Amino acid sequence: MKLAAALDVLGQIRMILILGLPHVFRAIYAQPSLIFNWTALSRISFANVWMAFGQGSDENTREDKSKLITPHATGVVLDLGAGHGYTASYLDRTKVTKYVALEPNNLMHTHIREKAQAAGFSEANGTLLILSCGAEDIPSIMSSVHSKADTIVSVLSLCTVPNPQNTLLSLVQDVLAPGGEFLFLEHVLSHRADVAWWQKFWTPIWVYVFDGCRLNRPTHLWVKELVDESGESTWSEGRYWDYPCWPEEHLFWRQFGRFVKK
Ligand SMILES: C[S@@+](CC[C@H](N)C(=O)[O-])C[C@H]1O[C@@H](n2cnc3c(N)ncnc32)[C@H](O)[C@@H]1O
Repeated sequence: MKLAAALDVLGQIRMILILGLPHVFRAIYAQPSLIFNWTALSRISFANVWMAFGQGSDENTREDKSKLITPHATGVVLDLGAGHGYTASYLDRTKVTKYVALEPNNLMHTHIREKAQAAGFSEANGTLLILSCGAEDIPSIMSSVHSKADTIVSVLSLCTVPNPQNTLLSLVQDVLAPGGEFLFLEHVLSHRADVAWWQKFWTPIWVYVFDGCRLNRPTHLWVKELVDESGESTWSEGRYWDYPCWPEEHLFWRQFGRFVKK
């Protein structure tokens, strides 16, 4: 792997500090006790950093996300780690009855509401539900949504979810309806040993800078290999594929995936 690609993270960390730290300092100035609350500070930083990073990421993947999400998302759609709600703009309002945006960072909820409303979903008529819990909190999801999800979408979020393999299994087993679709775009552990080495090297640092995000998760393989209680594949069909626009050398090597539950 070329050294410049391996050190790309340093440029990103610099941008994160430039974009996030002023907001962190302002928050501590307003409320000094926050200095002891790492989670709160990390979320303040992330919500502001994602204003820039999220928009760029969405623009770069718009065409591919349109092909992944728009034709396949139907019924009740659960968006894991909804961020600022970009997924809403890919939903076909004639096929999607409810947009459930799960986002533990409350500082991002206003943007979710705006994007969802622009796409035709609102809390007033029950077509928008914003959840503040994590994706791992299956009981809260089930008690809030009241029905199974017809579609689960995850865009760059499973890198952050705690206990990801168990969380994935429970989400698919307990929350996703039979015949439902699991659609994802995730940056994942590379199949190339040199890239994977650098991903593992940077993860212990990156996890602190970028709100718990990990570069070393083979999420696409975990999804593909999900099995039910009898040891059979959970899926009736499914595949994952490369994000065509980035070189294989990228530390944030991305995979799209579409899997249909039996
Ligand atoms: C990289 S952002 C992606 C946001 C959005 N999906 C997008 O593409 O713009 C990851 C999101 O996951 C959220 N997140 C953090 N912990 C989470 C958890 N335990 N469960 C679900 N989402 C989580 C973060 O707050 C953040 O908004």
